[in-house]
Amino acid sequence: MKVLVTGGMGYIGSHTCVQMIEAGLEPVILDNLCNSKEAVLERINQLTGKTPVFYQGDIRDREILDQIFSEQSIDSVIHFAGLKAVGESVEKPLEYYDNNVHGTLMLVDAMKSAGVNSLVFSSSATVYGDPAEVPINENTPTGNVTNPYGRSKYMVEECLRDIQYAAPEMSITLLRYFNPVGAHPSGTMGEDPQGIPNNLMPFIAQVAVGRREFLSVFGNDYPTPDGTGVRDYIHVMDLADGHIAALNAVGKKDGLHIFNLGTGKGSSVLEMVDAFSDACGHDIAYKLCPRRPGDIAECWADTSKATKELNWEAKFDVKAMAADTWRWQSANPKGY
Ligand code: NAD
Ligand code: UFG
Repeated sequence: MKVLVTGGMGYIGSHTCVQMIEAGLEPVILDNLCNSKEAVLERINQLTGKTPVFYQGDIRDREILDQIFSEQSIDSVIHFAGLKAVGESVEKPLEYYDNNVHGTLMLVDAMKSAGVNSLVFSSSATVYGDPAEVPINENTPTGNVTNPYGRSKYMVEECLRDIQYAAPEMSITLLRYFNPVGAHPSGTMGEDPQGIPNNLMPFIAQVAVGRREFLSVFGNDYPTPDGTGVRDYIHVMDLADGHIAALNAVGKKDGLHIFNLGTGKGSSVLEMVDAFSDACGHDIAYKLCPRRPGDIAECWADTSKATKELNWEAKFDVKAMAADTWRWQSANPKGY
C-alpha cells in the first residue's frame, strides 16, 4: 500500500516512515524542508535499506500535489506537514492559518480530484484546551484553545468533519497526540529543533549535552503532586505505530474517526528531569521559574478507545523515552 506522507521528513513523520517500511507499507514523502533536513532520507535508508520517494515541495502547491497523485498510485494520506510552535504562532498567526488550515484544504481538494478517500490527520491534545477533568477522552469538549497554533488544529478538525459529512465515502481519522518525545532506539534519528527548543524534552536533552546551561522549570505551584506541570509523554516509536494501527483498522472504513494517542499516564516536569538524569548519568541543572503563560496544570489521555478499536497501546515508559533521547542527542549533539 502506497501512502503519501506530508511532512515525512520531520520528527514524527520520519519515525513513522521507518515503521511503515518495516510494516511493508510504501511511504511517498512530500515536504518543503522548512523544519527538517534532507539527511533524514539517508537515515531512513540506513535503518530500513529503503529510501522513500521524496518530493520536495509545499502542500499549498496544487501542481505538485496533482503531479504526485498522477505519478504514484496513492491509497491513503498521512498529513503531518504544518507549523507547530505555539509562541511563534502568536507572532505570526497568518503563516499558521495559511500553512495549517489553507494547506490542509488544498491537500484534501487535490485528494478529492484524484479520488483518494483516506486521510489520517496529525491533531493534538491542544484542541481540548484546559480540560475540566483528566483523563481526557475523545468526547471531552474541544475548541477552548488559547493560541493560533491550537486554533488552527481545532479549525482543521472542524473543516474535516464537514468535509467528511459531505463526502461520506471518505475515511478521515483525527489522531490527537499528547506529548511526543523520544527517538529511534538506534540513536540515528530523533528530534532536531531549530534554535531554542520550546518543548521540555529537547530542552533537557540540550542541557544534558552541554548546549544549554540550565532548564527553566515553568511553575512549581500547580495543584499537582510536586507542583510542576504534568503531561502524558508518549514515545515517538509508539506514536509512529499508532498511525499504522489507524491505517489498518479504520483507513478503509468510511466515517470520521477520532483517537487520543497517549500512554494514559502523567509525568511531572521534575519526574522527566529525574528520568533524564538517570539516562545520561549526571544531574540536569534547573531553576524554578514563574509559570509560562497559557500552560495548563495537567493533561493525560484516556487511551481506552485506541486500545479497543485500533488494537494499539503504547509500550514504552518514561525511562525508555529518556534513554532513547539521550542516545540520539549524545551521538548527534548538533542534530542532523
Ligand atoms: P516537524 O516540524 O518536525 O515536522 C513537520 C514537517 O512538515 C517538517 O519536515 C516541515 O519541513 C514540513 N512542512 C511544514 N510545512 C509544510 C508545507 N507547507 N508543505 C510541506 N511540508 C511542510 O513537526 P512534528 O513534531 O513532526 O509534527 C508533525 C505534526 O504533528 C504537525 O502537524 C504537528 O502540529 C503535529 N503535532 C506535533 C506535536 C509535537 O509535540 N511534536 C504534538 C501534537 C501534534
Ligand atoms: N516546561 C518547562 N520548561 C521548558 C519547557 C517546558 O518547565 O523549558 C514544562 C511546561 O511548563 C509543561 C511541560 O514542561 O508543564 C511540557 O511542556 P512542553 O512545551 O513540552 O509541552 P506542552 O504540553 O506545553 O505542549 C505540547 C506541544 C503542543 C501540543 C501539546 C499537546 O508543544 O504543540 O503538547 O499535544 F499541542
